Amino acid sequence: MPKQKRIVFACSECGYEAPRWLGRCPDCGEYNTLAEQPAYFRQPLGPTRAAGVSAPQRMAETPAGPARRLVGIGEFDRVLGGGLVAGSVILLAGDPGIGKSTLLLQACLSLARQEAQVLYISAEESTHQVQDRARRLGEIPPSLLVAAEDDLEAIEQYLAAESLAVAVIDSIQAVSDPEVGSPPGTVSQVRGSSSRLIRLAKERNLPLFLVGHVTKEGMVAGPRLLEHMVDTVLYLEGERHLGYRLLRGQKNRFGSTDEVGIFEMTEMGLVEVADPSGVFLSQYRSGAAGTALAVVIEGSRPLLVETQGLISPAAGPPRRACTGPDYNRVSLILAVLEKQARLPLSVSDVFVNIPGGLRVSEPAADLAIALSLISSYRERPLPDRTICIGEVGLTGEIRAVSRLERRLAEAARLGLKRAVIPSEPPLRNLPAGVEVISVETIKQAIAELLKSADARRKVTGETASRPDRAG
Ligand code: TYD
Ligand code: MG
Repeated sequence: MPKQKRIVFACSECGYEAPRWLGRCPDCGEYNTLAEQPAYFRQPLGPTRAAGVSAPQRMAETPAGPARRLVGIGEFDRVLGGGLVAGSVILLAGDPGIGKSTLLLQACLSLARQEAQVLYISAEESTHQVQDRARRLGEIPPSLLVAAEDDLEAIEQYLAAESLAVAVIDSIQAVSDPEVGSPPGTVSQVRGSSSRLIRLAKERNLPLFLVGHVTKEGMVAGPRLLEHMVDTVLYLEGERHLGYRLLRGQKNRFGSTDEVGIFEMTEMGLVEVADPSGVFLSQYRSGAAGTALAVVIEGSRPLLVETQGLISPAAGPPRRACTGPDYNRVSLILAVLEKQARLPLSVSDVFVNIPGGLRVSEPAADLAIALSLISSYRERPLPDRTICIGEVGLTGEIRAVSRLERRLAEAARLGLKRAVIPSEPPLRNLPAGVEVISVETIKQAIAELLKSADARRKVTGETASRPDRAG
């Protein structure tokens, strides 16, 4: 047998292990993060094998596991891939204050209403605080249990109870094992506690939720390695002060990561949004300059969103701010507009916003973002009920996007009249009731959409105040 390497140093950022101290972690590249591990971790992890090795089984004859248990919140079950798998461990990650505790408490209430015994372990709040919040979320069924505990061994004892059907630990960063010398939230604590809890969940066939806070750097605080240890990683996203929350699967051993759940944070907790496109359209003010409509695909669902742009003369060094779209994407669009539409961006402040708190990373929204900015700069609204779909390329070309027909169908469903789309590839099934304008370049899109405004001016005898800069 090969001699086992003794691992005594671990990186506090990513959990990389090394047999000796190193100044820089070879995995994540951080300096001075390797520290000696407590003796506890030098023992190998993983289940001990008391009864020897059993022979492999025929896969077809292996007994089926227990059926999935539905949480009872449609959007949540969909993101899980169709409910909870026995013995699965789900990490719910997100910024502090985004609504993780609220969502899981609602899930517990819903599960407990189905007569299942559910235990909510809060390592951060008192039982009173949890109860207080649960009361606001609805009637508390008798089968919902609560414990305020941050000690790993005590939690293990709770989880050993035979009658338990589902458990939640909020949060894993607050759990500590006194045997490990370091404070809660450090790599050794989080990794040690998680691996013991995960092993217990598997042995007991217990679905277990772990809450994980995300730090500024965008990873689950401390160890990224938690993401590798659990079966499913869900992220709860949104702007903290705005209404909408997206529940997104990042990893799922038991389903697709393509699904997205959409909720709205209300006085009564998180409420599922049945028709998100309708909600966004209801707040859209047509006839205003600086706004455009796009259809993005979240998971497998098309979603209508408004994009807002504002360009104004800068009083000092030009400012750039964007809420919703990816900053790098917006920078690219601005650079293209500067060149193609001659926007004086070096002396302008630029703001881009997606109302409602949605984060949009899809390039399909590029065209809408670009046109909302041009519309703001020219102080002219885009034509009413017009959808803009397309990726903006570096030379100003409008590039094809995936699932264009689904997007157009959604626009048609919501009664939109006009769609500006990439000219390639040619569309086979045109949606009924939507006028389609195919464009090859951003210049062409600007000319098409602002031409009607120019025409109107000519009819009234006015001359266009600014020449068409795109032409
Ligand atoms: P919380 O679930 O505590 O966030 P996390 O666990 O991710 O840190 O929720 C935080 C916010 O949600 C808090 O600012 C209050 C708000 N909230 C509501 O708006 N409505 C509600 O019914 C509840 C319970 C919370
Ligand atoms: Mg919380």
